[in-house]
Parts: sequence; C-alpha cells; structure tokens
Amino acid sequence: MTTAENTDGGTVPRARTIFLCLECGTSHERHMGRCPDCNTFNSLKEHRIASESARTKSRPVEERSTAVLINQVEACEEDRITTGLIEVDRVLGGGLVPGCGMLISGEPGIGKSTLLLQIAQSISRQGQRFLYITGEESAAQVRLRSDRIGEAGNELWLHSECDLDSIEQQIGENHPAVVGIDSIQTVSWDEIPAGAGGVVQVREVTSRLLNLARKVGFPLLMVGHVTKDGSVAGPRTLEHMVDGVLQFEGERGHNLRILRALKNRFGSTDEVGIFEMRSDGLRQVDNPSGLLLSHRHSASPGSATAAVLEGTRPLLVEIQALVTPAAHGTPARKPSGIEAGRLSMLAAVLEKRLGIPLGGCDIHANAVGGVKLKGTAGDLALAAAMLSSFHDRPLPRDVIFAGEVGLLGEVRPVPGTRQRLEEASRLGFHSACVAPGSLDGPGPDGMRIHETAELATLASRFVE
Ligand code: TYD
Ligand code: MG
Repeated sequence: MTTAENTDGGTVPRARTIFLCLECGTSHERHMGRCPDCNTFNSLKEHRIASESARTKSRPVEERSTAVLINQVEACEEDRITTGLIEVDRVLGGGLVPGCGMLISGEPGIGKSTLLLQIAQSISRQGQRFLYITGEESAAQVRLRSDRIGEAGNELWLHSECDLDSIEQQIGENHPAVVGIDSIQTVSWDEIPAGAGGVVQVREVTSRLLNLARKVGFPLLMVGHVTKDGSVAGPRTLEHMVDGVLQFEGERGHNLRILRALKNRFGSTDEVGIFEMRSDGLRQVDNPSGLLLSHRHSASPGSATAAVLEGTRPLLVEIQALVTPAAHGTPARKPSGIEAGRLSMLAAVLEKRLGIPLGGCDIHANAVGGVKLKGTAGDLALAAAMLSSFHDRPLPRDVIFAGEVGLLGEVRPVPGTRQRLEEASRLGFHSACVAPGSLDGPGPDGMRIHETAELATLASRFVE
C-alpha cells in the first residue's frame, strides 16, 4: 500500500495510481510501452484508486460495524432458501444461505443458463421473488427458453442489463428474495477503464455485488464461463471471493451433467447433483447408474463395469477398451473420460507383470456416458477391459470391479467399497471383483465376492 509519513510518526494511506491493460485487464505498478502479460503495445492506461483503508476511513461513523458476541448474532439454518430442486439443494448443503454469493461455473454451452433459469423458475414457483439479470440474452429469449423448459411462478422477474449501477438500482427497487446473474463477465462498471469480461472488471463488479448481497441479505447466484484450462478471466480469479463455487460439468455430445461444489462455505464439497440434459431442459437424475448402464455392451470383449464414487454417491460406469496391433511405429494411447497417465501406467503394468505385449498395441479406452473417471477406483475395471479386449474374450456380464492397481500389479482396496457394491447389487450385479480386505464382513446379500490380490489372479479368473 502506498503510504505517506505522518507528523506523529505513523503512516496514512493515500490514493494510488495503477496502470490497467485495456487488452487483458491486468494491472501494473508502473507505465510501460508494452503490457508484459499480453504483449500488446500502448494498451496501459493510468487509473487512480483510493486505497481500501482510505475508503473505509471516509465512511460515516454510522456505517461502520462493531464487534458483537457470537451468540448474539442472529442466524439459523431454517433461513436457507431451498431451490426446490433436490439435486441442487444437495450440492448447496440444504439451500441458499441469505447473503451468500455462489458462482456457477462451467464451459460455454454446458447448460449454466438453463440451470440458473430452472432454479429461478423453481424458486419463483414457491412464491419467492427471483430477479434474473441477463446480460447475454434478451428478456424475450429468456422468456422463450423458460416456456420451453418449464413453468415460471408469478415472482420471476427478468432484467436485461449489463451496467452495474443499473443492476444495483434494480435490485434496490425490486426487493428480490434471490438474485441470479447470467453472466458475471457481461457486467461492467463504467468507472473502470478496462472492458467487460477482463480480470479487473470481473473482480471489481463481483466484489461490489457480493457486498450488496451481504448487506441486503439476498443470495446471489452468478454464472461464470471457464474454458477447458480455466484460463479466461473470471471464475478462477473469483474463487477466493465467493462463498461457493458450483462447477457444472459434462461432455459435449453426452447428456449427463454433474454439478459439483468445488468450494462451499455452507456445506460439504462431497455432494454432487446429477442431471440429464434433454430437449426440454435439465432433468434431475436419481438413478444415474441405471441411466449410464442402459446401453451397456457387456457381452462384447473389452467391456467392464466399474463402481466409482462421485462425491459420496456410487456410480456404475461401463469402461470400454479396444486393444489392436499398433497401426504405426509408436503405439497410440487414446483415452476418453479416463486420465491419460492412468491408462499408460496400467498398460505398462500389464506388460511388465503379465507379459502382455501392449507396447506394440494401440489402446483406445472410454468411460461410457460422458463420465470423467477420477481417482484410482476404476483401475481394476480398466485393466480387466484391456485384458478382455486383448484376449478377445468377454468378461462375465454380472461382475462389478472396484479396486486400485499399483505399480507392482497388486490390487488395493478403495474407500467406500460396501457402498459401491450395494449400488451394484441394487442394479442386478451378482458378483464383485475387489481387493482382499475391502469389506469388513460379508458383501451385500446374494453377491459373490472375488478377492483379487493381483492382476495375475484377475486374468486367470476372468479372461484366460
Ligand atoms: P446453455 O444453458 O445455454 O449453456 P451455457 O449457459 O452453459 O452456455 O445450454 C447449452 C446447450 O444445452 C445448448 O447448446 C443446447 C442444450 N439444451 C438442450 O439440449 N435442451 C434445452 O432444453 C436447452 C435449454 C438447452
Ligand atoms: Mg449461457
């Protein structure tokens, strides 16, 4: 902070000058002919800002807050506003907390606007006023989409606006119970010289809206776009400011969508919400495994079913592998929905421990249904699928796999095995292949448990 010596030896804060790049939105301490971040010439512009403490100092005494005892602060769980969508409320930890600021982030086209609108419809159907601020689509476009995907209650208000001052004014006049903004990148504050969507704009705009939400006490939902690498101005730079980040994920061309809390000050980050994108909007899915396995090709070689956990929910996913002689010199490894490193590692372990010459094979591997396999619990299923494809022998149809594979070819237990197997049993699987010691007791009723200590056992039991 820029400070000046005070006569009594202390320091007083004063306004400082920064140089904002109009191209990429980064701020710099001194003027330069070229922005060091985006390499654009003559893009830096001088901007004077009052330091935070100077702004606080200038506030009238009655606006400043004072410390209070924790048990004198009024707050209760019942104040939460439920969205009425079970899958969303689950991720939020029971509903929206008054004054909270939540970011709904995701890649363009994944369904963020649809989700926000369905939340808005559901909240307004409960008689709570929802102010939907749209900077990307016109009010007419939102109305059309709303008619197509569901039913709005009497209290859904639309405001097509990008200017921060007008938005704040509208919030002040409309007295909404909940405010949604689509998207935060379109909102701009004309006092900041950088363009809308730049890092500085997005950060300042969010900070002002969050302050307003906290002061007035309405929950604020903000949509923010991210690209695959998360590099575009916005969500990543906002994560530390907001109370929660709900990431909406899915694969293009697949209908499955997963809402995941990356951060949640008011609930667990273990919960996920699962949806299916249909022609009439998002539908909540209470039986995702059934949906994922509905087109399973388990009778063909190269298919194995993995029991994975999404948050705390077990999910059964078909893993497919296709192992063929390498078409060109370097063998290809083509994973989809599976981490490339995991695929290479498992192929190497199969080669080294079982002597299977995968070094001369192309391997395509796929987690079916647009699921992204995270962690290591899918290892055993992926290894089984590769073995099955290599030997061209199908695996038994009703076996579920849950286990991590180590570099020595050993199979290790994964957390929550019982939960995974119970889900599998519910969906008609009669046997399970797991690491020894995965269960402290018998498996689910009627399920045969094949304890498999190493990949050699897996191969001899199921494929050779
Ligand atoms: P959208 O919510 O606009 O995505 P975002 O706001 O994240 O950019 O929805 C994107 C896609 O979802 C769109 O390309 C088409 C599809 N979609 C459906 O399949 N059905 C629907 O009812 C809607 C509204 C969208
Ligand atoms: Mg959108």
